[in-house]
Amino acid sequence: MKVLIVGGGGREHAIAWKVAQSPKVEKLYCAPGNAGIAEVAECVDIGVMEFDRLVTFARENTVDLTIVAPDDPLAAGAVDAFEAAGLRAFGPRKNAAILEGSKAFSKDLMKKYGIPTASYETFDSAEAALAYLEQAKMPIVLKADGLALGKGVLICNTLKEAKMGVQTLMLDKQFGIAGNRIVIEEFMTGREVSVLSFVDGKNIRVMTSAQDHKRAKDGDQGLNTGGMGTFSPSPFYTKEIDDFCRKYIYQPTVDAMRAENREFKGIIFFGLMLTKDGPRVLEYNARFGDPETQVVLPRMKNDIVEVFEACIDGTLDQVELEFADNAAVCVVLASDGYPEHYEKGYPILGLERFTKADGYYVFHAGSKWDANGAIVTNGGRVLGVTATGSNLKEARARAYEATKWVEFENKYMRQDIGKAIDEM
Ligand code: AMP
Ligand code: GLY
Repeated sequence: MKVLIVGGGGREHAIAWKVAQSPKVEKLYCAPGNAGIAEVAECVDIGVMEFDRLVTFARENTVDLTIVAPDDPLAAGAVDAFEAAGLRAFGPRKNAAILEGSKAFSKDLMKKYGIPTASYETFDSAEAALAYLEQAKMPIVLKADGLALGKGVLICNTLKEAKMGVQTLMLDKQFGIAGNRIVIEEFMTGREVSVLSFVDGKNIRVMTSAQDHKRAKDGDQGLNTGGMGTFSPSPFYTKEIDDFCRKYIYQPTVDAMRAENREFKGIIFFGLMLTKDGPRVLEYNARFGDPETQVVLPRMKNDIVEVFEACIDGTLDQVELEFADNAAVCVVLASDGYPEHYEKGYPILGLERFTKADGYYVFHAGSKWDANGAIVTNGGRVLGVTATGSNLKEARARAYEATKWVEFENKYMRQDIGKAIDEM
């Protein structure tokens, strides 16, 4: 069959790499893709929000299955656009992608169906938000309602900071209309874990756990980023926690979406906080995580195309997911200065070493070809270097070893990805 992946980052490279292994796939396209994805797929120069062009491309090239990976096109109805043209697409429809697209929606859903999460209030006016803050307990968390590239969440330690946060989100509109409405939420403490799952509207199949490192600098300092590295599995995600989440979070979320007539087909990413009172939902994403995907998929044994099809067809109850009994670590190589100001366009050297190394992967997040055909940096996050190992320590040592194989001018990485496992 012919498959099209929509997206062009490290997550899409990992998905493309996995899809390309399926014996069912005879041709793989990726729009827009990047210089790394081009090794496993034919890249097509169409943007992720150009639905008309994407649909036309899929129709003209008799694409059998399109996988929409990023949040923005999902929230804007990319899957609906393919379906309206009679084409098969994997991902939630617009009315279900709201699970990620609106924090107010997802919080209300959790409250209505008793799914454990931080307590909260929703505000449409800055005046009411500011009045509420006067009696609220600090620290407190402010969240822009809409999509804000993962940056619309402010953790405020003092009343003064929280008031400034309301100013930033609602009055200065730093994240545009995403801040017209905000959620003000109780601050929770604990370990964070990401759990991705496949959902077919009714059934859910949970993948192995992972942990992200969102801050730019070692020791979880610096600004929030898209993610600087991940490991899988999370040793903090125990069998007991898994049992609790299956009973009180995972299936209840799928059932709640159905009950709301927003049947969810696609990936639900559960961002969890393991608090002393038990697991709580921090957020939902309606897609694969980036860079969680870069450690989860290299450990997955199933033919992923079969799982995607089961989600679309509503037959996920017949699928059992299988993961290798190993571990994986991904270290993101970024451009120094990310997530603020950084230079790009520097040649990337040493990539060929990965093609011959078993259990080592380099997923491209931001790369392209320059006029001479050389692969150069093209983003804040440039590469995700992943390695597997028999356990987390080994995987981590191997991933850091492989970060030395590649060079580019302003290469920056955190040195402590997976360090938490030393405390075990
Ligand atoms: P979100 O995009 O909702 O996952 O928020 C981004 C990050 O902010 C999370 O990964 C947490 O580190 C932090 N965060 C979000 N909500 C809370 C909360 N209620 N309490 C503490 N930290 C939070
Ligand atoms: N790694 C977090 C996310 O994909 O949102």
